Amino acid sequence: MTRPPRQSAKEVPVATTTHDETLTTAQNLSDEVVARYRRRGFVHVPRVLAAAEVERLREAVIAYRARVQTRFERPVFAQYVDVWQHDDTLAELTLNPRLAGIAERLQGSRLRLWHDQILVKDPHNGAATEFHQDRPYWPHSGGEALSAWVALVDVPVDRGAMTFIPGSQRQTGLRAQNLSDHRSLMNIWPEAEWQERITIPLRAGDCTFHNAYTAHTACPNDTDEPRLAQVVIYMDADTKYTGAQHPVTDPMDLTVGEPFPEGRFPSCARLQELG
Ligand code: SIN
Ligand code: NI
Repeated sequence: MTRPPRQSAKEVPVATTTHDETLTTAQNLSDEVVARYRRRGFVHVPRVLAAAEVERLREAVIAYRARVQTRFERPVFAQYVDVWQHDDTLAELTLNPRLAGIAERLQGSRLRLWHDQILVKDPHNGAATEFHQDRPYWPHSGGEALSAWVALVDVPVDRGAMTFIPGSQRQTGLRAQNLSDHRSLMNIWPEAEWQERITIPLRAGDCTFHNAYTAHTACPNDTDEPRLAQVVIYMDADTKYTGAQHPVTDPMDLTVGEPFPEGRFPSCARLQELG
């Protein structure tokens, strides 16, 4: 049997999507997927973006990175927070009513936008994103939060795919993990060592949703192409501000104990009305 010629890394298409272009919406999301999200604390949602939308966003991320000086450039990834405030194209995904609808269906409650970020893992960056939960870093009291991690290129396992510990969203009392310590989560929660881990490769335009307490890590990027992702983070609409330090809220004059103001943290209901 003749083998097909091997593709060199440069020939591998990185921004492709699968052939079926039916987009996932809150309406066609199956009950089974919702139940899996609630049981495990994360879920793979395919095709939240059409190929043309992915292409547009991918170009916008590349242009954004070229023009914006970031405060968070590290080997693990370059991180740009609240991009929707600065870039109209990237705002289209952050304010996307379909994504907001899926988030509300998964969470089962009224949500609002917390913030977004683009995360670029450079080719051969040699660094994993260490295991952590998101919520302990946030100035939130009450309610729940979840992230839509949207792949803007194909993200096979070795391009920095996300890995989750099923059920870890029930560990709501852990202190914030140290992201520069490989053992931090295990030191704080020793049973984490023996939990099942699930890694989810994504096609461009697919996403995962994960609960803000779900422990996750991301592989290093061992490929020749950058890993481009945009993450949109939602919180329960009546989450209160605690006053804890956070780069998004530090420059704002928010009132401790009050909900986050609608103008700057729009509700998913409003995003869906406007969409
Ligand atoms: C990553 O994309 O490397 C990490 C994302 C996250 O922590 O949510
Ligand atoms: Ni995280």
